[in-house]
Amino acid sequence: MDPPHRLLMGPGPVNVHPRVLRAMSADMLGQFDPEMTRYMNETMALYRRVFMTENRWTFLVDGTARAGIEAALVSLVEPGARLLVIQAGRFGLLLSEIGQRIGAEIRTLDIPWGEVASLEQIEAAITTHRPQVFAAIHGDTSTTMAQPLAGVGAICQRHGVLSYVDATATLGGMAVATDAWGVDVVTGGLQKCMGGPPGSAPIT
Ligand SMILES: Cc1ncc(COP(=O)(O)O)c(C=O)c1O
Repeated sequence: MDPPHRLLMGPGPVNVHPRVLRAMSADMLGQFDPEMTRYMNETMALYRRVFMTENRWTFLVDGTARAGIEAALVSLVEPGARLLVIQAGRFGLLLSEIGQRIGAEIRTLDIPWGEVASLEQIEAAITTHRPQVFAAIHGDTSTTMAQPLAGVGAICQRHGVLSYVDATATLGGMAVATDAWGVDVVTGGLQKCMGGPPGSAPIT
């Protein structure tokens, strides 16, 4: 294989930094090698900064961003549970599709593509639908709009709702303020603002 060099100007994947490419050709270590566990601890600590969180359980799921979304939703949503999703673009729809496959009862807060939901709309939808889990996309790549999330965690906590945010398109490019937002689980991907290869999904 000798793939040509391309300047990637789409919303992801983007060109990967040469240091990252070099690191990807490093030799294999066993998973219990102290050198390996040291790297893993360092990776977790560095990702806590990226996610702006104190959460110890910040790590990587092997797989594309979808693998992180699935890990989060399968862990948060039981079959038959009600999942409320902000649908304002293609990736909100993806959350509903994954929720459906888990067997969740899907409720949507439908927003015209190109717009974002207000805190009032989110709280009204939670009051109407009484979900167990609330899910939203931070930056929906299909519309380029960023959903404001300050205050969303407090609303969810007031109503006893678990919260999930997909920050695949924004992680490393905009503040993903996990602890300040007060959301329970956030996931991302590497192949956009992080400038890495697809195939690793950071999660906190
Ligand atoms: C907002 C958002 N979520 C999820 C995904 C899915 O990412 P992946 O193709 O790495 O599974 C994408 C990919 O473009 C995305 O933009």
